[in-house]
Amino acid sequence: MKTIFKSLLAITVLSMVLGSCGNGDSKKNGALSGNAAERVYVAPGEYDEFYAFVSGGFSGQLAVYGLPSGRLFKVIPVFSVDAEKAYGFNEETKPMLNTSHGFIPWGDSHHPDISQTAGVLDGRWVFINENNTPRIAKIDLTTFETTEILEIPNSAGNHSSSFVTENTEYVVAGTRFSIPFPQRDMPIKEFKGNFKGALTFIKVDPKDGTMDIKFQLMMPGFDYDLSHPGRGASHGWFFFTTYNTEEANSLLEVNASQNDKDFIAAVNWKKIEEYINNGGGTKVPAKYAHNVYTDETHSATSTMRDEVLIVNPSEVPGAIYFMPTPKSPHGCDVDPSGEYIVGNGKLSADLTVHSFSKMIKAIEEKKFDGDAYGIPILQFEATLAGVVKSPGLGPLHTEFDGKGNAYTTFFISSEVVKWKLGTWEVLDRKSTYYSPGHLMIPGGNSGKPFGKYALVMNKITKDRYLPTGPEVTQSAQLFDITGEKMELLIDFPTIGEPHYAAGIPASLIMSKSKKIYKLEENEHPFATKSQTTAKVIREGNEVHIYMTMIRSHFAPDNIEGVQVGDKVFFHVTNLEQDYDVPHGFAMIGAQTSELLIMPGQTETSIWEPKQVGVWPFYCTDFCSALHQEMQGYIRVSPKGSDVPITFTLDGDALDAE
Ligand code: CUA
Repeated sequence: MKTIFKSLLAITVLSMVLGSCGNGDSKKNGALSGNAAERVYVAPGEYDEFYAFVSGGFSGQLAVYGLPSGRLFKVIPVFSVDAEKAYGFNEETKPMLNTSHGFIPWGDSHHPDISQTAGVLDGRWVFINENNTPRIAKIDLTTFETTEILEIPNSAGNHSSSFVTENTEYVVAGTRFSIPFPQRDMPIKEFKGNFKGALTFIKVDPKDGTMDIKFQLMMPGFDYDLSHPGRGASHGWFFFTTYNTEEANSLLEVNASQNDKDFIAAVNWKKIEEYINNGGGTKVPAKYAHNVYTDETHSATSTMRDEVLIVNPSEVPGAIYFMPTPKSPHGCDVDPSGEYIVGNGKLSADLTVHSFSKMIKAIEEKKFDGDAYGIPILQFEATLAGVVKSPGLGPLHTEFDGKGNAYTTFFISSEVVKWKLGTWEVLDRKSTYYSPGHLMIPGGNSGKPFGKYALVMNKITKDRYLPTGPEVTQSAQLFDITGEKMELLIDFPTIGEPHYAAGIPASLIMSKSKKIYKLEENEHPFATKSQTTAKVIREGNEVHIYMTMIRSHFAPDNIEGVQVGDKVFFHVTNLEQDYDVPHGFAMIGAQTSELLIMPGQTETSIWEPKQVGVWPFYCTDFCSALHQEMQGYIRVSPKGSDVPITFTLDGDALDAE
């Protein structure tokens, strides 16, 4: 134990030394070659070449940037409420955040991945996982809106997620924390041998992307950290790194670092799929939410599911193997050909690369080294393709440029290292500032990377930006990787902690981007499609206001007959049918956010007036030169008052109903 403490201390000291050296270099050399600024400069009115979808980490969201400029275009709300967009505040999107634990206003988003067809990015959807309350979300890339969230039962710390297979047959979600299965009241010290790690395979409907859990593989109680799919020859397999194969439940920093090697689990999902399609697996009770948003009704529904199909490894012999990998591996990265599986042993001095073809041969020749809970352990040498010797300290993640090169981030030595697949020689290294986690090359998890830029996402920024008190910005760094040597082009701040990112050429998405919602297609049950049909209806103590908005007024804009203690529903439809004319809606004293309503869309906000008076509402989005005139009043009378419901626009009393 003492030795480990010492070595961790040595690593920490070394990282501090390297960290400060790196800083010195950067200041001295300016870090940049002369024309770096030109290469990230996107002139006013011109477009970036790539979209980058960058995980918002503990913000729970997904941020959209342009590359190479690093300009932020949009923060897509996914797992956390977002007052700017009314996500989780309006009635339409509240069901998106429903779970088996009830309404959860926050999430920890980690790894976005873009859908693929035949191993190439198709730009239809981006998936992202929530780590804390295990969920997978799908974002539609025509609207850049979250349209589906599926909760993952029997899972905890949903980290080895959400990666897609080469035809988006599956999105995978693996549990980082193993837990009792089924969940129950039991002593924690009985963890070993009793907890299970669920690897969840979610089927994706090729037509509309609807997600559905096909099966959960109940693995031994290790920590399943990251994963990537096989592709090409290895399509049909999925690879997961594990750590804590010691199955420790306390002081993991020491107790989960005892084994010289942990495993990469190789899962033949096609074989398991076949087993299931022939009636295999066991349905067990499970409670998990499935939330779907549709553009037709501009609304989400939440359905609680009640069972899931479980498969135990022993039921499908020959479907799962362990490849020993030094030492608490983190990233599990598969090269574009599908032949090489890189295990980034975060406490190892070397990078271990497994060969898929050697793995198959080793399985055929039964080159096993015992088993773990009945799962065969392949001999280390039998699957080893090669070792990148002493590339740096603390390897975390590897991406590929599609030209035979790999790029690995090193957390402790704060650098990105370029090395060659097959020869395993280190070709280049560049300092990153500081302590990078993931890196991303557009198309990096596919058969066809677009190897022009690598985006490195850093955990620490220290002195890279103007200070903002104790909390400083998170950061990404863009490298040009087209030459022999990598070149640092730009730093830019990110929201939350940028875990992984997914990049795609803008040309594959921008032409499909939706500009408005067609009013005639609006099937929202409370839509008001013309201002003459605007109305106010009392139903008991509920008042439903069917309101429209168009430059630059609300209809109705004066409403009387509301009482203290009422529950007022504003069902607001934006009648505009032009691009980029949203309107907003805000009501004084409302305990929800404003609404931001796109052309053709309907949204609902609830207000419960607590005080008698005449209270204004207004448009929050500067929509025209007369935006400031876009306002109205609600008269609130005492409870039980005989003031009738009336409403007007332009002084004409419209019929009350
Ligand atoms: Cu409508 Cu401002």
